[in-house]
Amino acid sequence: MCTAEVVKPLPLSLRVVHVLRLILASIGKFVLSLYYGTEGEKIPPIYDDILKEPAVVVAKKIRNKEITSVEVVEACIRRIKDVNSALNFFVEDRFEAALKEAREADELVRSGSMSPTQLEQEKPFLGVPFTTKDCIAVKGLHQTAGVVLRKDVIADKDCDVIMLLRQTGAIILGLTNVPELCMWWETHNHIHGRTNNAYNTTRMVGGSSGGEGCCQSAAGSVFGIGSDIGGSIRMPAYFNGIFGHKPTRNTVSNEGQYPVPESDLLNSFLGIGPMTRHAVDLKPIMKIIAGHNAKKLNLDEPVDIKKLRYFYQFSTGGPLVDAVDPEIIAAMKKVTEFFKKQYQIEAQEKKIPLLRKSMAIWFANMKSTKRFGEFIMPNDSIGRILFEMVKNAFGLSGNTFIGLFTALFDYGGAEVGSERYKHYLKLRDELEMIFVNLLGDDGVFFFPTHPTTAPLHNEPLVRPFNFCYTAIINCLGLPSTTVPLGLSREGLPIGIQVIANHNQDRLCFAVAEELNQAFGGWVEPQKS
Ligand SMILES: *[C@@H]1O[C@H](CO)[C@@H](O)[C@H](O)[C@H]1NC(C)=O
Ligand SMILES: *[C@@H]1O[C@H](CO)[C@@H](O)[C@H](O)[C@H]1NC(C)=O
Repeated sequence: MCTAEVVKPLPLSLRVVHVLRLILASIGKFVLSLYYGTEGEKIPPIYDDILKEPAVVVAKKIRNKEITSVEVVEACIRRIKDVNSALNFFVEDRFEAALKEAREADELVRSGSMSPTQLEQEKPFLGVPFTTKDCIAVKGLHQTAGVVLRKDVIADKDCDVIMLLRQTGAIILGLTNVPELCMWWETHNHIHGRTNNAYNTTRMVGGSSGGEGCCQSAAGSVFGIGSDIGGSIRMPAYFNGIFGHKPTRNTVSNEGQYPVPESDLLNSFLGIGPMTRHAVDLKPIMKIIAGHNAKKLNLDEPVDIKKLRYFYQFSTGGPLVDAVDPEIIAAMKKVTEFFKKQYQIEAQEKKIPLLRKSMAIWFANMKSTKRFGEFIMPNDSIGRILFEMVKNAFGLSGNTFIGLFTALFDYGGAEVGSERYKHYLKLRDELEMIFVNLLGDDGVFFFPTHPTTAPLHNEPLVRPFNFCYTAIINCLGLPSTTVPLGLSREGLPIGIQVIANHNQDRLCFAVAEELNQAFGGWVEPQKS
């Protein structure tokens, strides 16, 4: 293991490319800041206090007749209408149906045919409204995944996760925005447009569950469901200052999420999971959506924070990726200092050299035999992509620029089954063994979720590979929770990933709850 700690310097050629990219990124950011203005739009405060409560508390209040489900659903509808013009996270509603279901939930509580205890066990989220992204099948609602070709596609049944949640009495309110084909980390498409960050509308919300991250930070629903194949839950959770969990691989059913992963390998990278304002909601939601697999996770087994081992790494050190912002490093140090002061536990710093290859490993592992372009245009070819790029410059293409760029990029890279492809699969296995051996059943790894706070709109174009911090964790199949740690000097959320070994999701939840208490968790946007 010890040999793995030696980090060799980067070759000169890579360092030159790295510096050139840094210069490009600075120029890019400057130009974008001129374009997107400096002010941003104000959003109103949260008027209904019930929207600040955890889902488990809302559920309890409904069961105990302290509040009705109709009141909670109406509060969400008011809030969405208040803020959506500035933020544009919400793309399709089923308000009428949700109100009807809320009345039925209230009727069930009033009838007394089930006791509160019985309701808690059999319908733990009775009457609680939630939202999900526009790529997860909800019967009767669109499932566009931000692809213009799919703008009229309507899901004819609920996916497994939505079905499981409905069985608990939870009420789906509607759908939130995503990037084109959910494959980029800014939320923008040519059906519903771009989503703005609630903390500062000049900033992006991340992706692909970006509309959902925004919805949760702005308190548009009581909890959210996202999906994550390269950071699509954890990045938006981070940029929007909320909690988001990517489960252990093959735990939650991905059935009914579009695009459908082509192979078992790709399916193992993808995870549907909870996005919440409060850490206490993560575990109860996971317990439901994991279905039969919940048993594997022993979620009810108590976790003793004092008996865990803690590790951290400040950066991947990889080329073409931004250095981690000093404010994020400072926040990570505060976390390790907290464990030292509170529990006299010394977290141990790691420098795992293979993490430097995160981006290359992810791209190679993600390679599929069906090209990206085939999903977003009728007859995918390089010529067609270039043609759409020209149309895009004149605002005439159904595809986003980054969608076309990704389609073009997909023509390069290692083919499935090639030597290069196999090489990166091998590196992934090596890295996975390093984590498995390090973490055991009592280890937790702190790692940045992202090297910067929420960038300006379009800024990812000059920082394309910064999502390697979340992406590599998908390849390793590990559970990871993004935990918010307050706001930066610019008023933007900061946070970290809490990673554990396979099936040890409960360690992520226990540490997230501890840090929620210690660091205050979600902060209402634009409060001051
Ligand atoms: C939003 O960001 C812009 C650009 O960085 C900044 O000038 C502005 O003051 C910020 N607005 C708020 C409300 O913090
Ligand atoms: C795609 O190709 C098919 C068969 O080659 C053709 O019939 C069709 O018109 C093409 N569609 C577009 C939009 O170019």
